[in-house]
Amino acid sequence: MEGVLDHLMRDLLTKIGGYDLCITEFVRVVEHVISDKAYFRACPELKNANAYGCTTQAGTPVRVQLLGQHPNCMGDNAAKVIELGSHGVDINFGCPAKMVNKNRGGAILLKDPENLYQIVSAIKNAVPNDAIVSAKIRLGYEDKNLAIENSQAIEAAGASELTVHARTKVEGYKPPAHWQWIAKIKQNINIPVIANGDIFSAENAQKCREISGCEDIMIGRGALMLPNLGQVVKQQASAMPWAEVQQLLLDYTQYETYGDKSKYYPNRIKQWLKYLKLEYGEADKLFQEVRCLKTAQNIIDKLR
Ligand SMILES: Cc1cc2nc3c(=O)[nH]c(=O)nc-3n(C[C@H](O)[C@H](O)[C@H](O)COP(=O)(O)O)c2cc1C
Repeated sequence: MEGVLDHLMRDLLTKIGGYDLCITEFVRVVEHVISDKAYFRACPELKNANAYGCTTQAGTPVRVQLLGQHPNCMGDNAAKVIELGSHGVDINFGCPAKMVNKNRGGAILLKDPENLYQIVSAIKNAVPNDAIVSAKIRLGYEDKNLAIENSQAIEAAGASELTVHARTKVEGYKPPAHWQWIAKIKQNINIPVIANGDIFSAENAQKCREISGCEDIMIGRGALMLPNLGQVVKQQASAMPWAEVQQLLLDYTQYETYGDKSKYYPNRIKQWLKYLKLEYGEADKLFQEVRCLKTAQNIIDKLR
């Protein structure tokens, strides 16, 4: 999740457990092959990929996500991330951001199945045969008329997996997620389909699996709202008590302020508290106390 789920958060959450794979925040591909340095910034797990595979400290594989519209350039960048050691490459066809869509990236591409086909094909042709190429879509841009055609185009171009966020671009993040549409897509293609959208609890996960027919699910905002959601869904764990979340907030402090990242920290911790307060009343109180604090140290003092 762009802007909120960086490698530090991946480390923290995968240490708790329950996750089989992480996808990075999207990396915007425009005209050139992006430098190693930029890829290492987006996905520091690549730095140790040769020795340990591209994984979080807990050993969970990490896949780089690319967002762009030029097939050849996307292919060249995909080849690069695979060479750097990414656990496959994921393509973002779902981003609703105005600026991204204006530049013909993300969800706008869902208006044109042929374009999706060209991008996925170019990536498939550019990477080794055994490299995983996955794609993430929404159900459409304005409406769902092309949901199945888009999915079939992605499969025909050779993608190995498809994740479906069960809403159109226009529906934004407005509930409900239309899990029944994932089932329709799944019935019309043969590659594995991963269900996404509005999974915030074990009950949501079970319902989503029943309706979509998918065993595999992807979690976005829920991972920030309930830090052990992976375990809650997979191992029937109880929700993490607030005292443990408080400790995580302190652990995150050490991560985020380590190595000159402290200028990002106030913003990041406030963003995380905004998600946590949807699950924990205590987080709301804490958010009110830190929202006007501007320096990392002041916030850390308050947390302690
Ligand atoms: C702040 C934010 C940033 C996101 N960034 C990305 C991204 O970089 N790549 C992506 O594929 N999806 C991104 N998403 C979409 C989520 O991955 C997910 O598809 C969506 O939130 C629905 O799932 P959820 O209900 O589990 O959150 C983002 C969502 C939010 C709220």
